Amino acid sequence: MPSIPLPKDLRINAARFLADFEALAAIGSTQDGGVNRPALSEAHLQSRGWFRERAERAGLAVSVDGAGSHFARLACGQNPARSLLLGSHLDSVPMGGRFDGALGVAAALEVLETVWDAGLHLPVDLEAVDFTDEEGTLVGLLGSAALANHLQPAEIQNPRGGRQRLLDGLQRAGLSEAGLFQAGRDPASLAGYLELHIEQGPRLERKGVPVGVVTAIVGIVSYRLVFEGRANHAGTTPMDERCDAGLGAAGFMLAARQLVVQSFPECVVNVGALKLEPGAFNIVPGRAELALEFRSADQQTLDQLQQALLALAEQEARAAGLSLTPVFLGRHEPAPMHPAMRQAIGRAAADLGLVTLDLPSGAGHDGQSLANLCPTGMIFIPSQAGISHSPHEFSAWHDCVNGANLLLQAALNFNP
Ligand code: HGY
Ligand code: MN
Ligand code: MN
Repeated sequence: MPSIPLPKDLRINAARFLADFEALAAIGSTQDGGVNRPALSEAHLQSRGWFRERAERAGLAVSVDGAGSHFARLACGQNPARSLLLGSHLDSVPMGGRFDGALGVAAALEVLETVWDAGLHLPVDLEAVDFTDEEGTLVGLLGSAALANHLQPAEIQNPRGGRQRLLDGLQRAGLSEAGLFQAGRDPASLAGYLELHIEQGPRLERKGVPVGVVTAIVGIVSYRLVFEGRANHAGTTPMDERCDAGLGAAGFMLAARQLVVQSFPECVVNVGALKLEPGAFNIVPGRAELALEFRSADQQTLDQLQQALLALAEQEARAAGLSLTPVFLGRHEPAPMHPAMRQAIGRAAADLGLVTLDLPSGAGHDGQSLANLCPTGMIFIPSQAGISHSPHEFSAWHDCVNGANLLLQAALNFNP
């Protein structure tokens, strides 16, 4: 924003930021210091109530789009004006950590209030945003994909969290399916998107570096795999005559890990849920359902990995005398971060005297929905022991304050 002399010494109000962060951490909090705020759950909607009240108390204009994403706008006074979006997500994974997403939303609100307090007039509006269902307990990157106008009807018909859970969430939040497809923003109205997030991995901490400048966000594919055999008596069915769906599923899980470790060392694969049916001690499982997710930073590698994993699943099914039904549930493309955003973060970090490390994100983020819409950038701060998606997720508060000050200065530094 070079149209004004950069107030390089402007800093956030750390006490106000901490109070906001702690207020959010108390919503949907769990025994062990985490939060349980799955998208559009009561707890998530409660956190959105906090967002609205907090933004209005700061004098910011609040709006909600058709996907339920919440926005707090600090108008720059020019009309028309493009928006620089700053934000993240208030939904969490089940039994997750209190930093993932919430840190970025609290920091975004703090940046807007700091700019407001300083009486700065920027050439763009600033909008703090809480995107709906970043974590994919319903669909995955739902709010940001809806804003970017690339939500697919098939993702809503057969979402990875289950259709009924999606419909229940929409109803609870007063949203509609049709509304999801009316949340699109005109790319010309956006100056950029910038997000502060915890790294959710060990690299920054291991290298003793306080800030990460994200180079790219990983691509993610989700499948439901259903292995079907024949339920039978666990006591009387000879071991060599069983069509045991659990065996096929277990064989696939072990072989998939070996495939990735040996042939796709830059990728990851995960089976996050396994359901055996009918599910009794004394019945050979006739059906096994797996929640499969795999990731790569490269589009072509993601395609190759998908092919290899589906072939492996077929092979394991055949070996165990089972049928296999693979159900595609969604794909988020890998996304490079914009050079102008990375430079703005780098300049701001230098002004703040913060050493940085360029690194790719192994976690998915809303920025991958927006990267082909407007200049997009991400700032990481260290995660203690790299732990995330766990109540034991933790980041030192001085790192959080560094991150929020960097978000502020990068937003001021960014030349839209
Ligand atoms: O799953 C992820 O990578 C992100 O935390 N949503
Ligand atoms: Mn996140
Ligand atoms: Mn997450």
